[in-house]
Amino acid sequence: MNMILKSCLPIGVFLSITLSAFAAVAHAQPVQDEKPMALRGVMEQLGDDMQAVTGAISHEDWALVAELAPKIANHAEPPAEERVKIITWLGAEASKFRGADLKVKEAATEMAEAAKQADGLDVIAAFSKTQQNCLACHQSFRQSFIKKFYENR
Ligand code: HEC
Repeated sequence: MNMILKSCLPIGVFLSITLSAFAAVAHAQPVQDEKPMALRGVMEQLGDDMQAVTGAISHEDWALVAELAPKIANHAEPPAEERVKIITWLGAEASKFRGADLKVKEAATEMAEAAKQADGLDVIAAFSKTQQNCLACHQSFRQSFIKKFYENR
């Protein structure tokens, strides 16, 4: 064996071990469908809108809060076909899921009302209530939702 090959060998072995280890790790990841559930897009928008509200609160820009809060209260829904899938999966828990969404709607509506009155403290209280209800639904359903719709298909 010439010198070049000799010196290349360990690197080649190292590379192939590293690559196969990498492939094994990649393979162990849950299979992700290329197409995310529409609910994820709805949630991302909710996250962005809530973030925009915190910015507006910091600037005491109540007019902007009054504009953003109804977008949170009346957020988009996944298409009917996906809603059926989710409701079917939820079964008896469907009313709890819907209830959490309704509480978000109520709290965000209160936030809009407080913002129209330029009542900063009430805006902040309603914001907190909104976020608490986001969290309540996530704590009950988010993990199992991801398991069901992303890791099992
Ligand atoms: C009725 C239940 C429910 C309510 C209420 C809810 N969420 Fe979610 N949220 C979910 C579920 C389920 C997921 C997981 C969806 C997924 O990963 O596809 C999720 C995921 C998210 C994500 C992560 C999206 C991503 O890209 O992984 C964000 C951000 C989010 N929600 C924001 C919010 C905010 C902000 C609110 C309140 C204004 C809210 N959610 C209220 C059920 C809810």
